[in-house]
Amino acid sequence: MTAYAESSLSSTAASAGPAAPGAGPTLRAPQAQDAAAIHQLIAECPPLDLNSVYVYLLLCEHFRRTCVVAERGGRVDGFISAYFLPEQPDVLFVWQVAVHERARGQRLAQAMLGHLKQRLASDRIRFLETTVSPDNQASRGLFKAMARRWQAPLQEQEFFQSTLFGRQAHDAEPLLRIGPFGAA
Ligand SMILES: CC(C)(COP(=O)(O)OP(=O)(O)OC[C@H]1O[C@@H](n2cnc3c(N)ncnc32)[C@H](O)[C@@H]1OP(=O)(O)O)[C@@H](O)C(=O)NCCC(=O)NCCS
Repeated sequence: MTAYAESSLSSTAASAGPAAPGAGPTLRAPQAQDAAAIHQLIAECPPLDLNSVYVYLLLCEHFRRTCVVAERGGRVDGFISAYFLPEQPDVLFVWQVAVHERARGQRLAQAMLGHLKQRLASDRIRFLETTVSPDNQASRGLFKAMARRWQAPLQEQEFFQSTLFGRQAHDAEPLLRIGPFGAA
């Protein structure tokens, strides 16, 4: 099984074209033409909430600098949506992380997060935040691994309680915060 190193991905990330057969995925900013495939990927990645295609179009158009698509052989294998908090521009909020089942367990999610942090190096991110439901072990494992890799503290606090989701049955979404970065 291939494990994707961050460095090898950043080189392919420079190219927007499809990867050669057998090559690792290309990591790049999404474009509007990716939105339908991203929507399909999220539909196939429970327990993620599926948003409308229109939401993914907006992410691809307005937030492409802080989002990542992993493409291999013309297929979207992974996606991250993220944005800077409007009133705290040193906090990158990671909204959804998805890796298709066919590409899991190869450190693709880690590589996409690493790629994003490298791409945004000049923005001097101090904290990365996300929400993770209590039972999502894969997601918890991912963010724990990133905190270790970035040698930064990881903290958890209450954020969106399940009652805030109204009539929709939805787990609570506590906040995970990694950082501060670069204190050393
Ligand atoms: C969570 C998800 C993105 C992980 O993608 P991935 O590419 O397989 O993850 P990686 O291979 O990069 O693994 C990253 C770390 O998470 C850990 N991890 C991954 N899947 C795990 C699982 N099912 N249980 C526990 N830990 C897991 C890995 O062990 C690794 O840590 P390590 O380097 O210390 O071994 C993927 O499983 C997924 O899309 N799940 C469905 C959607 C979802 O829950 N998204 C997250 C919500 S934001």
